[in-house]
Amino acid sequence: MSRWWQEGVVYQVYPRSFQDANGDGVGDLAGVLSRLDYLSEVLGVDAVWLSPFYPSPMADFGYDVADYCGVDPLFGDLADFDRLLAECHRRGLRLIVDLVANHTSDRHPWFADSRASRLSPRRDWYAWSDPAPDGGPPNNWQSVFGGSAWEWDEATGQCYLHSFLAEQPDLNWRNPAAREAVYGVMRFWLDRGVDGFRIDVADFLMKDPARRDDLPPESAERPRSRAHPDLHGVFREMRSLLDGYSPPRLAVGEIHEDDLGVWASYYGEGDELHLPFNFSLLHAAWGAGEVRRRVEAVEAALPAPAWPNWVLGNHDEPRLASRVGAGAARAAAMLLLTLRGTPTLYYGDELGLPQATIPPERQQDPFGRRVPGRGRDGCRTPMLWDRGPSAGFCPPGVEPWLPLGPGAEERGVEAQLADPRSLLNLYRALLALRRASPSLHRGDYRALAVAPEGCFAYRRRAAGSPGFVVALNFTSTAGKVEGIAGRVALSTGMDRQGETAAGRLRLGPGEGVVVEERGP
Ligand code: GLC
Repeated sequence: MSRWWQEGVVYQVYPRSFQDANGDGVGDLAGVLSRLDYLSEVLGVDAVWLSPFYPSPMADFGYDVADYCGVDPLFGDLADFDRLLAECHRRGLRLIVDLVANHTSDRHPWFADSRASRLSPRRDWYAWSDPAPDGGPPNNWQSVFGGSAWEWDEATGQCYLHSFLAEQPDLNWRNPAAREAVYGVMRFWLDRGVDGFRIDVADFLMKDPARRDDLPPESAERPRSRAHPDLHGVFREMRSLLDGYSPPRLAVGEIHEDDLGVWASYYGEGDELHLPFNFSLLHAAWGAGEVRRRVEAVEAALPAPAWPNWVLGNHDEPRLASRVGAGAARAAAMLLLTLRGTPTLYYGDELGLPQATIPPERQQDPFGRRVPGRGRDGCRTPMLWDRGPSAGFCPPGVEPWLPLGPGAEERGVEAQLADPRSLLNLYRALLALRRASPSLHRGDYRALAVAPEGCFAYRRRAAGSPGFVVALNFTSTAGKVEGIAGRVALSTGMDRQGETAAGRLRLGPGEGVVVEERGP
């Protein structure tokens, strides 16, 4: 029997950028609450994943948490959170929150305590090491944000590990008390009623216990600074905690892992993560052959009961519409919402928001400030709602924290709802069709051999329900797919209907079509 997180669609809200209710130019929880009807009724998604809203010095916009059990005043307070959760549930929407478990802020009291003295009871909650004999860092591990992953602490004469910014010291997951403390945080939110967690950089939690150097990237050896097999034990503990709730709550993990065998291992035997994020298509060169190869590889790598999931955008990656090109964004939407597995949709991708170019003086992302060209601001611009000032993101006269992306007038929700063939209306139609069709939300997947080069076609079918064939043309020339008999249920142009003629489907350049097959 499938469950909500298998049949449903998850929508990621980056709270800074969704809706500003209190007029400070930064989105907040009350803003998200005011837009829930859009999510549940207008768009038609099933769950919201909220990026961090916890008290934070904002060195990494909330991925540096100073208090796991509160709400940063920028976003509201716990009462706002409880209202948001209750209003989600009243609409049948689930709410998933971010669990930033690998590191805290350097301002978190746990770290202040750990840093205070080598004898502090919490010293071992973080990863401290003596410097190398020459006074340099203890090993060659690199921060994802550039430079050594070690920071020298003058007062206690040791270095602490930070896989990200120096303001984000890594917790030591080998310390049982630190581990228990994070499980306590999980219980805090679960007891409030959240439906699950998206575990931030989940595969960083366990590192090589001997802290040996990483080998050069070309080496066949696995990294030592992350993804140690002891992770499985942590994921099993988290899972049993989540399974202890009724109904069981969801574990989604942020896992960037090129080795699909290792990625799939994080499902465990159905006792680890429900959904280790699958970023395979985020990094695909956008062509039929490559996309098909990646989809087939993911399907083949999954252990039997594991349920796939697909991601085409998030707050760390260049915007989908700019990656694949505006013309291909429609077929990409069809792909995301018709493959077998749970899709996670990034706010604004349903509007085709492009990657914005942010002028240097308005850049915010610490990653971009440290490593020019790597800034993530361009995919975090404000959501566009209407034709008013600041596109309805914040009240008139208020400057949004990041400038609006290009074309705000015609790209907003209001403008797109008025255009029956807009990208937003295509997303709505795809979501409605998916929801109404068991074959699409829980059926099998099989690639069709008949597609000509440049096209990718597959069948989705659940027992007792009409099957569907999805055919996508990735090229800029027309293509013909044979062997498809049925009724056009939806096309990316939203401009065709009727039966396929003699089992043949002609696809325009960049076009995608969902065909409902005859009979169950
Ligand atoms: C994850 C988040 C990213 C953050 C990093 C460090 O990759 O998605 O935004 O900067 O973790 O917490």
